[in-house]
Amino acid sequence: MCLTTNVTSECETASNSRSRQDRDNLIAISSRLRTGRALTLDVWSTFNAANFPPDCINLGQGYMNFSPPQWVKDAANDALMSVSANHYSHPRGRLRLRQAIKEFYDPTFHRSLDVDTEILVTSGANEGQYSVFAAFLEEGDEVIMFEPFFDQYLPGVTFNGGKPVFVPLHPPSGAKTHNSSEWKIDIAELRGAITEKTKMIILNTPHNPVGKVFSWDELNEIALVAEEYNLLVLSDEVYDCMVYDKKEHIRIANLPNMWDRTVTTLSAGKAFAATGWRVGWVIGPKALIDPTLAATTRIVFCTNSPLQEAVATGLEMASKHDFFENQLKEYEEKRNMFIETLDHIGVSYCLPEGSYFVMVDISRISMPDDYPFPATIQGRGRDFKACWFFAFEIGVSCIPVSEFYCEEHCAIGENYARFCFCKDIDTLRCAMDRLKKIANYLV
Ligand SMILES: Cc1ncc(COP(=O)(O)O)c(C=O)c1O
Repeated sequence: MCLTTNVTSECETASNSRSRQDRDNLIAISSRLRTGRALTLDVWSTFNAANFPPDCINLGQGYMNFSPPQWVKDAANDALMSVSANHYSHPRGRLRLRQAIKEFYDPTFHRSLDVDTEILVTSGANEGQYSVFAAFLEEGDEVIMFEPFFDQYLPGVTFNGGKPVFVPLHPPSGAKTHNSSEWKIDIAELRGAITEKTKMIILNTPHNPVGKVFSWDELNEIALVAEEYNLLVLSDEVYDCMVYDKKEHIRIANLPNMWDRTVTTLSAGKAFAATGWRVGWVIGPKALIDPTLAATTRIVFCTNSPLQEAVATGLEMASKHDFFENQLKEYEEKRNMFIETLDHIGVSYCLPEGSYFVMVDISRISMPDDYPFPATIQGRGRDFKACWFFAFEIGVSCIPVSEFYCEEHCAIGENYARFCFCKDIDTLRCAMDRLKKIANYLV
C-alpha cells in the first residue's frame, strides 16, 4: 500500500514536472504576436519607476501628474449618477459628445462636420488608429511611418497584416541646440519608399518625440505624394492643442484634395490631462469613417459612456473657462523653464514647437566604462545607457529615442533622450535642480 502510494506520487511528481515545462507551451501563441515588437521588452517596462530609485522623478512616460480640470471631473461624477451614462453608448459615440466635437472642430477643419457620418468616438486615439489599420489594411499592404515613430503604430500595422516602411526625419548636423522645425523629411526618400503595395502614410504633427509642427509646405509635399499614389493618410494630431511660439497647427486634411483621403485622430487624454480615461475621436469623410466604425464596433463596441459625457462638457465649456488658452500658456512656461535650465547647463537640445517633450542631446555625456548597467541595457545604444545613468546618478528618468526607430536607422536616435514636461511646476523645478548635475558629466 505504502509502496503503491510512493510509486504513484513519484510518477505524479515526474509527470507534474514534465508537464510544468510542457504546459508553458501547451497553447501556441498567434504568429502575429511575434511581429511589431509586440513580445520584446518594451522601453516603458525597462524605464519604469519600479526599476529606479524610489525618489527618482519620472519625466519618462508622457503622462501628467496633475488631474483634469475640476469642472470636467465634476461632469464625470454627474454622469455616473445618471442612468443612461452607465450603459452602452452608440458605437459612433454619444450624440452629445459628437455634437460638442463638431462645434469645437468645425472652425479648424473649415467645414461643417456631419455628426452622423464624419465623427467617430474611439477609446483613445490609440484604438482609433488601430481601427483604421483594421479597416483598411490587406495582407502585405505597406504603411509608411516617419521616424521617430510612436511605438504603438508598429504592432497596430503588423497585427492587421501591414508591413511598416520607415522613412526617417533627419536632424540638422552637429550636436548643437536647434529648433524642431530643422528635422526634415527628404521627399526623394519618401518617394523612393513607395511601391505598388503602399497603402497608407502615417503622419504625426505636432510630433512625438521631436516636437516638430509640420509646415504647410512640408504637408503639401506629403499631400502631393499621397494624391499621386492614391494613399490614405492617417494624421495623428493628438498634441494639436500644444503648439507654441504662436505657430499655427495645420491639418493635412485641409490641404487641397486631402479631405477625402485623410483620417485625423485626436485625444481627450492629451487635451484634458486625462490619459487614463481612454477617450479619443477620429474625424474624416464618410467613406473612411464608416469602415473605421465597422472595425471599432467589433473591437470595443463602444467607448466608456460616463467619460464621454464628461469630455463633452470639457469641449462645451472650454471657452467659458479659457481652458485651452490657459493650458497652452502653462505648458509654454514649463517648456521655457525646462530649456532655460538646459541652456544654463550647457547641454544641447531640440527646441519643441509642439507637444510636451524635449529631446536632449546626450552625445557629449561621459559615463564610466565600468558603470553597472543591467543586462537589459547592456548591448543597447548610448541613449539607453544615458537614460539609465540619469535615473540613478541624477534622479530623473527619461526615455531613449532610438526606441522610436527601426534597427537600420536607430543610430539617428541614439544621440537623444526624451524628457516630458507635462508635470506640475514643483515637480519640474525639483527635476530642473537635479538636472543641473548633468554639467558634471559633459565633455
Ligand atoms: C503621437 C501619439 N499618438 C497617439 C497617442 C495615444 O493617445 P491616446 O492616449 O488618446 O490613445 C500618443 C500617446 O502618447 C502619442 O504620443
